[in-house]
Amino acid sequence: KQPDHIPLVLWVIHLQKRRLCLASDTSQEDLVDRQCLIEKYTHLFCHKVFCHPWQRCINGKCICKLPYQCPKNGTTVCSTNGRSFRTYCQQKSYECLYPEAKFLNSGACTETGQFNISLKHGNRDSEGIVEVKLVDQDEKMFICNDSWSITQANVACLDLGFQQGAHDIQGNFHFPEDLYTSATECLQVHCQGFESSLTECTFTKRKINSNRGIAGVVCYTQNAVSSTNDSFQCVNGKPIPQNKACDGVNDCGDQSDELCCKGCHGRSFLCKSGVCIPKQHKCNGEVDCITGDDEIGCKGNSKQKLISPSRFKEQHIQVQALIEETEILTANMDAERKQIKSLLPKLSCGVKPSGPTRRKRVVGGIPAQPGDFPWQVAIREDDKFSCGGIYIGGCWVLTAAHCVRVSKIHRYQIWASLLDWINPNAGITVHMANKIIIHENYNGATYQNDIALIELKKRKTQTDCELPTTVPACVPWSPYLFTPNDKCIISGLGRERDNQKVYSLQWGEVHLIANCSKYYPGRFFEKEMICAGTDDGSIDACKGDSGGPLVCQDANNKTYIWGIVSWGENCGKPDFPGVYTKVANYFDWISHHVGRAIISQYNV
Ligand code: ARG
Repeated sequence: KQPDHIPLVLWVIHLQKRRLCLASDTSQEDLVDRQCLIEKYTHLFCHKVFCHPWQRCINGKCICKLPYQCPKNGTTVCSTNGRSFRTYCQQKSYECLYPEAKFLNSGACTETGQFNISLKHGNRDSEGIVEVKLVDQDEKMFICNDSWSITQANVACLDLGFQQGAHDIQGNFHFPEDLYTSATECLQVHCQGFESSLTECTFTKRKINSNRGIAGVVCYTQNAVSSTNDSFQCVNGKPIPQNKACDGVNDCGDQSDELCCKGCHGRSFLCKSGVCIPKQHKCNGEVDCITGDDEIGCKGNSKQKLISPSRFKEQHIQVQALIEETEILTANMDAERKQIKSLLPKLSCGVKPSGPTRRKRVVGGIPAQPGDFPWQVAIREDDKFSCGGIYIGGCWVLTAAHCVRVSKIHRYQIWASLLDWINPNAGITVHMANKIIIHENYNGATYQNDIALIELKKRKTQTDCELPTTVPACVPWSPYLFTPNDKCIISGLGRERDNQKVYSLQWGEVHLIANCSKYYPGRFFEKEMICAGTDDGSIDACKGDSGGPLVCQDANNKTYIWGIVSWGENCGKPDFPGVYTKVANYFDWISHHVGRAIISQYNV
């Protein structure tokens, strides 16, 4: 109620102020997903981010490639150990293995060129005004303050040997009095934030403007700063202000402040995978979110074409020519990195040849049309279809462990492109099993690790398994690709609710369900299982659907095998959702058996 002695308008303002203040206080706290922080994710965890093109993703971590595993095309670069490399990728992968061999310049190594960075006029070695000598410039120069942010400061500190990057870009530096009379120009620098040396960033030159000043930095050292109660602890040990977490800016230097977010503040975009990226990265033509959602719904729709570094330099110079007194000084290694990325081998999976079709023995299902589920297979044991399976590429089919026994290998037939087994359709192929691999920790009592691989037999004289109309579903490499409430599709030749037999491939739409322990206390294992269904239970898998697919589509309509039909209490009953093997948890197990090249979508 409004107190009588305060005029109404003022009271409203007062209330609004309070609301605003409360809203921002709580929302900032809520943006960080505390549970996720336990995993200690950094830029080197491919469950959350893409690895660089000079790394590959193994067991959830970005590991250094060997230089020969890089694409062969690109421009020569010179490294600080005096060695020249055929490509930037080769130099970065070499540096990844031997960190002392940093990037020096684009082009061959020259006799004289040296890069130097130092801090001047600070109270300690770890702070001061940044002074830089570029490889093909004669003089040392200062950096213009207006291009300077924590992103470039982190790179500068790392370059100087401070592993945790920068603490601040403000400090008490003693600017010499003659500074603005002795120096007439300053450098503008732009970094991505992953660079290990400032030379990898792009530099331009312009006239010093005493109003805008020059850049300084305080690098982080353990004894220089004490963390306070309200600071965010980076995985690398550096504390940063709480409000700098989940703002799209990599303040930590290892990105750990942006990888466990429920929301993003400031000028940043939230990836479905719970990662905040800078707004400028949305619709910039490069996919930053592992879920692909940053390049969706962009104006012009077509992805921006990558431009070559030389072309970039040209364009840049044209633009720069208009702005007086600027000059581009270094090659654009970010454009080079993108170019390398575009040369990496790509895997073809999860895309139907006919493109996306109309959205329309599963309970409550709809009969499938030819080509709707090109990864679906049926497993026939003796004379009956007992289970489903999913083709994942090569000669490999994924199914449930409870569907197969190694000892019965000769009794299985794998039928591909089957829609109706009473009136068999055209295009069906039948395959024998060459090998069955059941997960070593499969537990028949609890259904934990209910996953198995079947290798199809090649016909004599054939080099592949001859699956003409079969298309592999993509294997998910991260548990963050899909999240509760996402709509996904189940399909199978199993039974109806009343145990009635169905003779055709049926499908239905379900959504992923969170906190499934509440439906199956003590029986649901979060790490290994997923639940999916509908609120009324009307759509579900049933007897005979086991081993078959629960597939989900990402932002770019690529289809992933997210679950394998495993178990459920009854079929199609509300509060008893279907339980599926969580395929993302088994990426490494699958890749170990089928070979990385078959299922590794990125960073091969
Ligand atoms: N275990 C069953 C089979 O062998 C699959 C059951 C799935 N049940 C469910 N309600 N989703 O076919």
